[in-house]
Amino acid sequence: MRVLILGIDGYLGWALALRLVRRGHEVVGIDNLYTRKAVAEVGSDSALPILSMQDRIKAVEEAFGARIEFIEGDATNYYLIRKAMDKHRPDAVVHFAEQRSAPYSMIDIEHAKHTVINNLTSTLNVIYAIKELKRDVHVLKMGTLGEYGYPAFRIPEDAFIDAVIQGIRDKIVVPRWAGSWYHWSKVFDSYMLLYANKLWGLTITDFHQGPVYGTRTTDIVSEELFTRFDVDDVWGTVINRFCAEAVINHPLTIYGSGLQKKGFTSLEDTITALAALIENPPEPGEFRTVHHYREIKTLNEMAELIRRVAKQILGYEPEIMHLPNPRVEPEEDLLYEPEKRVLPKLGIYRLTRVMEDEVVMMLKDLKPHADRVKRIEALFRPRVKWRD
Ligand SMILES: NC(=O)c1ccc[n+]([C@@H]2O[C@H](COP(=O)([O-])OP(=O)(O)OC[C@H]3O[C@@H](n4cnc5c(N)ncnc54)[C@H](O)[C@@H]3O)[C@@H](O)[C@H]2O)c1
Repeated sequence: MRVLILGIDGYLGWALALRLVRRGHEVVGIDNLYTRKAVAEVGSDSALPILSMQDRIKAVEEAFGARIEFIEGDATNYYLIRKAMDKHRPDAVVHFAEQRSAPYSMIDIEHAKHTVINNLTSTLNVIYAIKELKRDVHVLKMGTLGEYGYPAFRIPEDAFIDAVIQGIRDKIVVPRWAGSWYHWSKVFDSYMLLYANKLWGLTITDFHQGPVYGTRTTDIVSEELFTRFDVDDVWGTVINRFCAEAVINHPLTIYGSGLQKKGFTSLEDTITALAALIENPPEPGEFRTVHHYREIKTLNEMAELIRRVAKQILGYEPEIMHLPNPRVEPEEDLLYEPEKRVLPKLGIYRLTRVMEDEVVMMLKDLKPHADRVKRIEALFRPRVKWRD
């Protein structure tokens, strides 16, 4: 298959590109290198060193004898997206090219606007390019489980649920309640995609997943192939940040009570699921919602697990420190187990590695780069607050 990855330079985009070329697919990628600049803007850097896009491509050629086509450009430029789709005629477009940090979106009006405009415009461009070129392309859009919030019912995986509206039984879209401007942009993305599907019959997978953690996939066979790994207060997701804190014996910083529950998935399992969804597209004209998470844990459970593994790998147990939660989010009595049916049907719902083994690997990968982590140590405390 030929796959166009929007956001190929990112944490997931690069790891997916490696998996797809190793599975014999042709990969074309677009990226405006925005995350590199935005991470630098908050004074941070990837904790693992990453090569420039040109050097990454050379490293892939050397490692796997495969060529990735890269276009440096902005997904909010409609003509760029349309031209790339027309020229390369992909079977699938994977859309990762969004501003993906909730804290970044909450900094101020400029960052909120950037998030909403960047994310919605890029999604609209993909929709219109397919509609205007009249192409049969599977759009795999990366959303988030955070679109739903924490409703008092089990979140169904279907985009629609049965409901009684004004006395009439009908189908309504699953209600959503996001917790940041970033998450709201994902909600609007989902609605726009659903509308494009109803209106023009676009074939869509709306993929909702919780936080991803991990330094490696089985394709990252050398440090030259590392994908980015962010650990600061703005860009780092929680397990990645805890592991970075552990390697420099910094306290593991839990925001709030630590009773918040999330559905975590390793980078390896995320990439396996994405590749399976690309290789098993929905029926033409179908809108397929997919939920993905492997282990539901509280932040306290995660911190304890990382402390245990740190003792075994690093020889010490970092402290655990609770800081006031900068976010506005529910912390207790959470009913949380979103339904998942599509991926188990594809037969790929096994855990590749238990969380504990994954964390062992992460600490081993990070240890030689402890000096890079040390440089951003001051950024572990949250600077962006949802309310003053
Ligand atoms: N990492 C996670 O834990 C996680 C969890 C759920 C969903 N997601 C979603 O998955 C997607 C990828 O996440 P990630 O962690 O790889 O993020 P990332 O920031 O590392 O990657 C996104 C890539 O898109 C690029 N990009 C952004 N805007 C662009 C534009 N207008 N034009 C071209 N390129 C652009 C960035 O430069 C970056 O390389 C995002 O949409 C994110 O919201 C991530």
